[in-house]
Amino acid sequence: MHRGKIERLVIAVTGASGVIYAKRLLEVLTEKNIETHLIVSKTAEKIIRHELDMGREDFEKLGRYCYREEEVDAPLASGSFKTDGMIIIPCSLKTLAGIACGYTGNLILRAADVALKEKKTLILVPRETPLNVIHLRNMLELARIGVVILPAMPAFYYKPRRLEELVDFIVGKVLDILGIEHDLFKRWGAEPRE
Ligand SMILES: Cc1cc2nc3c(=O)[nH]c(=O)nc-3n(C[C@H](O)[C@H](O)[C@H](O)COP(=O)(O)O)c2cc1C
Repeated sequence: MHRGKIERLVIAVTGASGVIYAKRLLEVLTEKNIETHLIVSKTAEKIIRHELDMGREDFEKLGRYCYREEEVDAPLASGSFKTDGMIIIPCSLKTLAGIACGYTGNLILRAADVALKEKKTLILVPRETPLNVIHLRNMLELARIGVVILPAMPAFYYKPRRLEELVDFIVGKVLDILGIEHDLFKRWGAEPRE
């Protein structure tokens, strides 16, 4: 778990299905008055339109500061810009592969590389199935150096009835890693057993 108070986070949204997770995370972080620096990839923009019926401009209103992936000269591209960590949600397997290889071809990849070199919390929320050996190898490589691999893989033990509850489970798991208090899902064992 992240240590210390979270005040400023980099949130990147890449071209994987599940952009609804990013929308909800941004809403919750804003409610908690956390400063968000949002980067939406070009492919994520297409998926946001398809899955959320939202344009880039409306989606970007969810972040405090917004950047394009081409803006490799943005403050986030430097380790001198202080943040409390970065979350890529959802994280495409392409972006995950780029991070695993140290390939910093756009602002998302560069900001992730900066998070790694500055020893910040880096959480990736990949969404793909099934996974091939290359995907698994890249995830293992990153997990070994401290990256949190948090697949978009909701649980069912709390008996969710609505889509929003499945989304909140994953967002709550991200907040748990960051040490941010929440009541987005009911914890196993929270109620006394009969
Ligand atoms: C509609 C759509 C859905 C996609 N879903 C996924 C996905 O769930 N997971 C994934 O790893 N890639 C997915 N892709 C492929 C990525 O978008 C593609 O690899 C892209 O180059 C990722 O770029 P980015 O990481 O810079 O956003 C999807 C692409 C499209 C068009």
